[in-house]
Amino acid sequence: MRRSYVAANWKMHLDGAAVDAFCARLPALAREAADVRIGIFPPSVYLARVVGALAGRPLTVGAQAARPEERGAFTGEIAARQVKDVGAGALIVGHSERRTLFGETDADVRARLDAALALGLDVIFCLGESLAERKAGRTDEVVLAQLQAGLAGLSPRDIAQRVTIAYEPVWAIGTGLVATPDQAQQVHALLRAAVARLADEATARAVVIQYGGSVKPDNFAELIACPDVDGALVGGASLDVSMFEALVRLGSGSAHGAGRN
Ligand code: PGA
Repeated sequence: MRRSYVAANWKMHLDGAAVDAFCARLPALAREAADVRIGIFPPSVYLARVVGALAGRPLTVGAQAARPEERGAFTGEIAARQVKDVGAGALIVGHSERRTLFGETDADVRARLDAALALGLDVIFCLGESLAERKAGRTDEVVLAQLQAGLAGLSPRDIAQRVTIAYEPVWAIGTGLVATPDQAQQVHALLRAAVARLADEATARAVVIQYGGSVKPDNFAELIACPDVDGALVGGASLDVSMFEALVRLGSGSAHGAGRN
């Protein structure tokens, strides 16, 4: 079975007091919903603090972005190596805000993904089409090209066990517009079939595919009921601990598939 994975992407929100209050609630949540993988991706200045607060707990803590170089003159940036060094276990790569606001290309995303895997970090690999691309009927072509650029040549084992794919239609991120369950399921199934071609059938059955884009407690039940939707990458609704708890609870008991995870 694929374990459901619900991850909080706090973006550039929350302050230290709010981070501490949030973290204080997480051990009980992880115990209650032990069948769900919970991920917390704080702003990088709080990364070490969250790692410390959740040390020894069965949660994933990671960075929202990092550079692949080991070190260098990149004022304001952090290295994937530093994410690993503070004890975090994961990195988000390819978020649409990184692609559009910071100009990260498919090649940049791949370099970050490769660096993270080489360091032993797990990866959430984001992809998704823009509104113009969807309206032009190009959704499948766009997401398949992003998937190919991100995952071609990786070992099936890394794809199955260390990479989570997050399908995040750009038009649904932070807009209140959410993909319908049918729209999400259609793209998730397409991506899973493409993973079977890039790797093999067992890898496709095992790879976890999250949906992201205006996920809230009142729309997540229908999404997670889709056979190929294995969890969510959550922005806005992850800032409120009660809402995040509700999302994790909805993920509990919702594992799909018969893969290795
Ligand atoms: P949102 O963000 O839930 O606020 O739409 C999702 C994301 O950017 O991962």
